[in-house]
Amino acid sequence: MYTNIKKIGVLTSGGDAPGMNAAIRAVVRASVYNNLECVGIYRGYEGLIEGDFKDLNARSVKNIINRGGTILKSARSKEFFTKEGRQIAYDHLKNKGIDALVTIGGDGTFAGATVFNKEFDIPIIGIPGTIDNDINGTDLTIGYDTALNTVVEAIDKIRDTANSHNRLFLVEVMGRDAGDIALNAGIGAGAEEILIPEEDLGKDRLMQSLKRSKNSGKTSSIIVVSEGDQIGKNIFKLAEYIENNMTGYEVRVTVLGHVQRGGSPSCYDRVLASRMGVASIDALLNGERNVMIGIRHNKVLSVPFSETKKGENEIDLELIRVADIMSI
Ligand code: F6P
Repeated sequence: MYTNIKKIGVLTSGGDAPGMNAAIRAVVRASVYNNLECVGIYRGYEGLIEGDFKDLNARSVKNIINRGGTILKSARSKEFFTKEGRQIAYDHLKNKGIDALVTIGGDGTFAGATVFNKEFDIPIIGIPGTIDNDINGTDLTIGYDTALNTVVEAIDKIRDTANSHNRLFLVEVMGRDAGDIALNAGIGAGAEEILIPEEDLGKDRLMQSLKRSKNSGKTSSIIVVSEGDQIGKNIFKLAEYIENNMTGYEVRVTVLGHVQRGGSPSCYDRVLASRMGVASIDALLNGERNVMIGIRHNKVLSVPFSETKKGENEIDLELIRVADIMSI
């Protein structure tokens, strides 16, 4: 068991998310504040295996709170899933004198951390960073709020042109396993329909609803489709289907893609990242191990890694009801 932590390694892993830099900054500065050394590890677990490290001080993280992406870069490491890979990673950590890790990423990042801790007993604290908001045990993940704002801004623009041409637009947003982005951005942007993986609307009901909207006087429509939705999986095929089964509407498709992962983080994400970064160092110094820093009802707390795995995503029925009522 590690009791005397002097040097902390920080890394970002998995898909990047706006606000990861603010989290790195918070981890580094909270470390320095507590007289701990801090080392940046590049490209997540890949950099751990390659020993790609950089010493960081309070000034190394200046002017990054407002920047999207991650200065430490990110990767999804296959090698870290092998025992040999993890042994090499541990040897590098030992040589560098790193006693503990803060890993910023999604549930895959925490799954890797759990195995690593089991094998080498190195203390690890996780910080949830993903635009998908699909991690259990926390109301919010870093990057989600910024992604929502990016999506809403894009759909506002699409609405202008949809309206000018009396068109129906299908807008695909990210979230392969979770419909949080689609549902919240859909309501925020005033979408007519929102297709999410948690609820299979079915093509028939979709068509009925679109026809009802049209008969009620709507001249254009926006449907937000989560990339993981059943009927929206191939969005171009869905567009063709709607065009063939509905007269009077031209259909167009916009796939927002990785635009959603970039950009300057929102104020909310910067504050969330700062709070979580500080809490991660507090947790390490309090002897906590194998936990993710989460936020619930605006209170920062620790959640065991074992409870963070994304499973059946619980859908917010109130949001579905609001979306339905708003789209009459
Ligand atoms: O997990 C975040 C995410 O952006 C998902 O929404 C998306 O499905 C996936 O990553 C895309 O991954 P990649 O950047 O590897 O294409």
